[in-house]
Amino acid sequence: MAQLWGGRFTTETDKKVYDFNASISFDKKLYQQDIEGSIAHVAMLGKQNILKKEEVRQIIRGLAGIREDIENGVLEITEEYEDIHSFVEANLIERIGSVGKKLHTGRSRNDQVALDMRLYVRLELLYIDVYVKKMLETLLAQMEENLDTIMPGFTHMQKAQPVTLANHLGAYYEMFRRDRLRLKDIYDRMNYCPLGTGALAGTTYPLDRIYTSELLGFYGPTLNSMDSVSDRDYIIEFLSALSLIMMHLSRFSEEIITWNSNEYNFVEIDDAFSTGSSIMPQKKNPDIAELVRGKTGRVYGSLVSMLTTMKGLPLAYNKDMQEDKEVTFDAIETVKCCLILFEGMLSTMKYNKDVMKQSASGGFTNATDVADYLVGKGIPFRDAHTIVGKIVLLCIERKKSIEDLTLEQFQAFSSAFEKDIYDAISMESCVNRRQTLGAPGRKVMEIVINAYKEDLKQDWQDEE
Ligand code: ARG
Repeated sequence: MAQLWGGRFTTETDKKVYDFNASISFDKKLYQQDIEGSIAHVAMLGKQNILKKEEVRQIIRGLAGIREDIENGVLEITEEYEDIHSFVEANLIERIGSVGKKLHTGRSRNDQVALDMRLYVRLELLYIDVYVKKMLETLLAQMEENLDTIMPGFTHMQKAQPVTLANHLGAYYEMFRRDRLRLKDIYDRMNYCPLGTGALAGTTYPLDRIYTSELLGFYGPTLNSMDSVSDRDYIIEFLSALSLIMMHLSRFSEEIITWNSNEYNFVEIDDAFSTGSSIMPQKKNPDIAELVRGKTGRVYGSLVSMLTTMKGLPLAYNKDMQEDKEVTFDAIETVKCCLILFEGMLSTMKYNKDVMKQSASGGFTNATDVADYLVGKGIPFRDAHTIVGKIVLLCIERKKSIEDLTLEQFQAFSSAFEKDIYDAISMESCVNRRQTLGAPGRKVMEIVINAYKEDLKQDWQDEE
């Protein structure tokens, strides 16, 4: 048990209290950020003549040594310290002697931990964005390959109208594209530096907060000391963005699970991304998709947990906030794994195009197009709708598709039907006559795909 604040206390902390209070078992993940922040802080103390240049040099060398030793496995982050901040400081003093005791001049663990978490979340946000971008690239490639792959589109899980696989995948492209925009937006809002706001009220030392914020790559320093040490909004926003990413992955997983079922047979998941059954030899299960769908609940849990932790906290720092770490770390790991595995499954998945097209052809998905055909021949849409409803009834009775009817049978419903009806309601025409922007028609899909390509070329991360 080693802590930074023994001076005021006469008896040792109870062991159970110590363990309950300690965060080192999980905040050790922040060692890089803690050292990076400390180096910036001490460099600034030197620049402001609060510490001597020689002291600054020694402290920075000591901190860099700690980082190197941790990375090389020479120094283990043990749990005899309360948290990562105490660990680093105690190690520094051990290494370079009492000059190390000057590191914490003009700083509190409150602004220190606020900085560490911000640096950590900022970095992980960029990683997640890269994985989402990879997903967009995979989707875009599959869209281009499947401009003419016809499949049924569904509403209420009922076959509705024929679409193309490109159009269907494009819906997910839009979702993940919005996810990236959200990440960028969060980045822009959170990229301000809380270092130098002290415990809650700043400090009496002449700190240069603009300098440290520049050293650490922030847009600038935060502007309210009390908010700086107690703000976890950016974590909640990030968890919310992660929850949306998971929601999108989960919806997609659900579809893949359905498509992979024996009944649908729209796709085949690659052997490398499926699992077997211990008892049923014939089984090939979509476990990855199911796990992604399942883990979505866990990420939502992190979001709700943080919202609840923060809802009753008075200003400024309260120890409750220490609870931000485990849920955030867990959500980040979970989302990263899910994005990587899902993308792997998607990019190796085989689409059974014939089955998809066959499925689109049954189920009267071209009924709307028959009505549209009649409208083209001068019949008002509402009347056309009624006529086609009757045609569908007959087809159900006779177990036929609409296009199986003879011209005479069509004409028995309306004399407006002519030979060209068959072309007008083929799956290909149904899809390609839909040329409104955003629809599955090839021409408009190509326009959209080109726009996505341009969009992917301009990466917001390059501008940062
Ligand atoms: N482990 C603490 C946390 O994660 C660090 C800040 C401690 N500050 C304090 N006043 N006890 O929030």
